Amino acid sequence: MSDNTESTTTAGQIDTVMHESRLFPPIGEFVAKARISSLDQYQQLWDEAKESPVDFWAKLAQEELHWFRPFETPLKWEEPHAQWFVGGQTNASYNCLDAHLTTDRRNKAAIIWEGEPGDVRTLTYLQLHREVSKFANALKELGVGKGDVVSIYMPMTPELAIAMLACARIGAVHSVIFAGFSAEAIADRNNDAKAKLQITADGGYRRGKVLPLKETIDAALEKSPTVENCIVLRRTNNNPPMQEGRDHWYHNLMERASSDCPATPLESEDSLFILYTSGSTGKPKGIRHTTAGYNLYVKKTFEWVFDIREEDVYWCTADCGWITGHSYIVYGPLSAGATTMMYEGAPNFPAENRFWELVEKHQVNILYTAPTAIRAFIKWGDHHVEKHDLSSLRLLGTVGEGINPEAWMWYHEKIGGKRCPIVDTWWQTETGGIMMSPLPGAIPTKPGSCTKPLPGILPSIVDEENQPVEVGHGGMLCISHPWPGMLRGIWGDEERYKEQYWSKVPGSYLTGDNARCDDDGYYWIMGRIDDVINVSGHRLSTIEVESALVSHPAVAEAAVVGRPDDLKGQAIAAFVTVTGEASEELRQELRLHVRKEIGALAQPDDIRFAAAVPKTRSGKIMRRLLRDIACGKETAGDTSTLEDYSVLVSLRDEEE
Ligand code: WT7
Repeated sequence: MSDNTESTTTAGQIDTVMHESRLFPPIGEFVAKARISSLDQYQQLWDEAKESPVDFWAKLAQEELHWFRPFETPLKWEEPHAQWFVGGQTNASYNCLDAHLTTDRRNKAAIIWEGEPGDVRTLTYLQLHREVSKFANALKELGVGKGDVVSIYMPMTPELAIAMLACARIGAVHSVIFAGFSAEAIADRNNDAKAKLQITADGGYRRGKVLPLKETIDAALEKSPTVENCIVLRRTNNNPPMQEGRDHWYHNLMERASSDCPATPLESEDSLFILYTSGSTGKPKGIRHTTAGYNLYVKKTFEWVFDIREEDVYWCTADCGWITGHSYIVYGPLSAGATTMMYEGAPNFPAENRFWELVEKHQVNILYTAPTAIRAFIKWGDHHVEKHDLSSLRLLGTVGEGINPEAWMWYHEKIGGKRCPIVDTWWQTETGGIMMSPLPGAIPTKPGSCTKPLPGILPSIVDEENQPVEVGHGGMLCISHPWPGMLRGIWGDEERYKEQYWSKVPGSYLTGDNARCDDDGYYWIMGRIDDVINVSGHRLSTIEVESALVSHPAVAEAAVVGRPDDLKGQAIAAFVTVTGEASEELRQELRLHVRKEIGALAQPDDIRFAAAVPKTRSGKIMRRLLRDIACGKETAGDTSTLEDYSVLVSLRDEEE
């Protein structure tokens, strides 16, 4: 199993990756109908874009977006600030909805949704337009206007997409917070963003249980003084308390809202949304994306990578709480006029065959999921898959972390029936959309590689001295020309934006990933260069988890590292020094404490009590050493071990 972080950068690991020489050319049947159907065609497009990226994007922007007012300047670039399509006015909600109403797509399914209990709803473009317009009016009624931040904490229901699009319609800036985060985490984000309004639900279904979302929001809003109103969707009928004057039922607001709400013309660079993600410090960053550039980028990359056809049912299994849901459930597919499927619940409810049942029932043609899910399916057993007819599938995708070649082969054989290309898409919250991926009708795939950059994307790999590395060598992955989907900043933290992404390699955006490029120009992502770990395709900062641990009164010091995990990619291992007695109860309490502080996804898998946290002479935690120990044979369950690192520390001190 691959450890996506540092260990892959050691010589031995690079060798193993290099042995992966299987090449899967695009499949004939697929190529025949593909938009981009040969390597030459891809190369031509990429070369054209490289020649003049600004003209390339300007032409696409004119063709692909609706302009209330045309733009004058395609790009203003004052490093590190890019402004795309300056002078123009557009609206992402218009591009996703109104633009289709005068076409044959008017009555086409925009969203096919299935709830975890099995309830199904389909919204056509016309119906979705109506719901979004009404909800936008409801937001206005509560005083929300252009530039106001709206915090969204909802289950995966159509109303989550409706809420996002309604914000976009009136120029409000949404900040979607994944429904697994704790009240503390929500309050932090609400305060950082100065959110004015909260949208939530009475609950959501997960593995047959009701998630008490409103209770969590009540606790969060106690600490979110900027939030004036809270809209509550009735999903589970679990009757949470409603606070007079602050809380409003979604259905009551909708009942009286007019469905007439023309999309507000917005400046290209008006903020569309903020999305919080982990960086290498304890404080999450509010990644800011803007209107026109983001919209264009997700629309085009969606069309290129998923080779979407009018009749397709496309299903991305992500949650709208992450960037994948923003870009490839909502904004990309809808602006391309596609049918996008949403599913509310868990992949193993009521049984481990739920995804395959959904694929068969809704005749899904394109499936986009995460390697961590694929590894779970493998573990659960092929019989869950074999029960179902998956012949509707024609294209598969992955995102979130590298996919190990064995999981890739299983996906190819068992899910794709060897007839579906696989697109391994590399990108980040910051990049807005997919940056590197095979184009399924054009680029032969190699299991484990995200293959080549999309048109308009110019990657480079450099060493510590900012020199380009030789072919086949690992280094820091950078992007050397602005692209329309790039982040425009970190909300309220200009310094961190500069420092994080633009200070290390002058003139280039620093991705934070290590990568290497092989003889064929294929890219292999080798994991992060910073203290960010990837748990089930979700980014977490080790320092964030450390801060949560240290905030417990019994903890003196904590050091957190990632260790390889068969299912999650990386698991969280914590080394903790306590002020009093170490015990099994405390271990359990600390797990719950982190869960309460951040959310279930950050709960440590291993907690080891240690006499001291090993540090270098300059006081830096020796993470490499801890990683070695975390990966080692010693079992984490042993409560009695108070490890003494002093010997190891003195041995390793020089290396760090
Ligand atoms: C980090 C970004 C992009 C949406 C989901 C995650 C890792 C992502 C791949 C891939 C290898 C990948 C990188 C990246 N990553 N996709 N196909 N192969 N690594 O978004 O939370 O912003 O995390 O995920 O390390 O930097 P995110």
